Amino acid sequence: MQRFSNRVVMVTGAGSGIGRAAAVRIAAEGGSVYCVDISQAGLDETVATITAAGGEATAQCCDVSDETQVKDTVAACVARYGSLYALVNMAGILRFDDTDAIALDAFQRVIAVNLTGTLLLCREVLPHLVETRGSIVNAASTAALAGLPCGAAYSASKGGVLAMTRSIAVEFAKRGVRANCVCPGDINSGMTTGIEWPPNMDFELIARISSLTGPKDAEVMAGVIAMLASEDAVHITGEDIRVDGGTLS
Ligand SMILES: NC(=O)c1ccc[n+]([C@@H]2O[C@H](COP(=O)([O-])OP(=O)(O)OC[C@H]3O[C@@H](n4cnc5c(N)ncnc54)[C@H](O)[C@@H]3O)[C@@H](O)[C@H]2O)c1
Repeated sequence: MQRFSNRVVMVTGAGSGIGRAAAVRIAAEGGSVYCVDISQAGLDETVATITAAGGEATAQCCDVSDETQVKDTVAACVARYGSLYALVNMAGILRFDDTDAIALDAFQRVIAVNLTGTLLLCREVLPHLVETRGSIVNAASTAALAGLPCGAAYSASKGGVLAMTRSIAVEFAKRGVRANCVCPGDINSGMTTGIEWPPNMDFELIARISSLTGPKDAEVMAGVIAMLASEDAVHITGEDIRVDGGTLS
């Protein structure tokens, strides 16, 4: 399958986990991938993987919560490749805090990266996607759909991403741009290793939000993201797809 031949796709969070897996998959399907992340080391590894397989990719270090950096990143992508067909917004952070003790700056940082960062990327790419009749795939989460204990900040950010994506979908449908979400659950990644839990974390509650089939590697997300970004999903917009091994079934 070469669904992205002659197409340029920007992937944020491409330095690790689901973003990396999506970048590798889209490059394998012929896309030129503009890889964006706050981690230069992560980006270098992703671009090396893609180019070693004969694909085309460029690394761009950027903090997605920084408006100036996001504007410069999108401008640099379009200057480099001339157009933009899809945005895959996977950059994100997760932390757990007791809601009756969460520090305001901790809450605000999660919102800034996960929600504001997603909005900034969408805002900057939308004029380019209108030109190519392209699409957006945003990372929401099962945390946007059901309670995540000690996850007030993260859940709020992902609920915001879900609602914002539906809004973009209806606002831009007549201009030919689609916008959808994936809602991953229980995917092995940088985010899910080495989590710092609050001291009295209730792990029985955490078990309730774990998948029925066991955790899966990030590659299980890549095909779903590529499908949503491609013309195979031409009649899908404003949708969210759970990829969680049946957690919320
Ligand atoms: N892993 C899961 O089970 C799971 C579940 C639900 C949702 N998600 C979402 O999927 C997306 C991908 O997560 P992942 O599991 O691959 O985690 P990950 O930690 O492996 O990847 C996240 C990437 O985002 C980058 N990043 C963090 N802050 C950034 C910033 N300010 N600017 C630019 N890049 C930044 C990190 O450097 C990292 O490379 C995230 O939005 C996450 O919330 C993951």
